[in-house]
Amino acid sequence: MIKAKPRTKDMPRSIIIDTDPSPDDAAAFLMALGSPDELEVLALTTVGGNVSLKNTTINTLKALELVGRTEIPVYMGADRPIKRDLITAEEVHGNTGFEGYDLPEPKAKAKSGFAPDKIIELVMENEPNSITICAIAPLTNIALAMQKEPKLAKRLQEIVLMGGARSEGGNVTPAAEYNIYVDPEAAEIVFNSGTPITMIPLDCTHKALSTDARLEKLRAVGTPHMEAFYHLLKFNRIFDQEKMNLDGGPLHDPTTIAYLLKPEIFKSKKVNVTISTDYELTRGMSVVDWWGKMNLPINTNMLYDLDSEAYYDLVIERLALASKT
Ligand code: BDR
Ligand code: CA
Repeated sequence: MIKAKPRTKDMPRSIIIDTDPSPDDAAAFLMALGSPDELEVLALTTVGGNVSLKNTTINTLKALELVGRTEIPVYMGADRPIKRDLITAEEVHGNTGFEGYDLPEPKAKAKSGFAPDKIIELVMENEPNSITICAIAPLTNIALAMQKEPKLAKRLQEIVLMGGARSEGGNVTPAAEYNIYVDPEAAEIVFNSGTPITMIPLDCTHKALSTDARLEKLRAVGTPHMEAFYHLLKFNRIFDQEKMNLDGGPLHDPTTIAYLLKPEIFKSKKVNVTISTDYELTRGMSVVDWWGKMNLPINTNMLYDLDSEAYYDLVIERLALASKT
């Protein structure tokens, strides 16, 4: 079993990162690995999302090998949403999910065991309220774990997730953001679970742009893995940058890690979020009761703005520190 380190006050915070890489996912979990004083990464769990489960797992292993961090266990989870077919996003991330830079095929393999079972094991065998899940993909693995172990939700410290949208509108449909759109039934389970949730929606991440200047700064660190990320993130921004006519593409998923490291660079509001599952036009919409109109219970700490300069500097600083070599 993987035992979390004993903690002083709230640090290091022990986390499981549930992911479907695409480069912004990889930047997120490598940033966490570059922050050992604050974060202890217990495991990475993969899920079908941006690309197939096979490719999200290969990309996770490739990213870990790039920085020599193959001691971090990787577990494969669900290859499709709870009730629906998987909708991937190759048009954004390329066929492999990691277009833009050729990384060698990984030598390491995922460990045996189904990710939702491993999440249950890790959370139930460690102290209550000692583990946070960073969810940067469709929420299938987490919902499956919650369905199988009803005590899980109350035992988690927090779920910090990238997903959803309020006034920004969706990036898959007018109403829905990708991670929620793909598996809305899973998202509904998670938002109704009672676990404290911090949600980082498009309203926030569409201000977290990979601009030319920031990518050049990242590249200027001058190490092989930062050179690889320069190219991966350059490809990764094209689709949204062109569609939205922005100065750069949004770097979504590292906001979850940045929030754990420096919550003060974000603005937040406590709200109720309800997930729409039943009507095709609003499938996967995160309906935010911003003004408390419905008197529904507060279930979410929603981040709606960030200091984008401080954010990107933090990404560069901690991503640079991910490499052991
Ligand atoms: C989310 O979808 C994925 O493409 C990104 O990795 C991020 O998790 C943004 O909508
Ligand atoms: Ca993702």
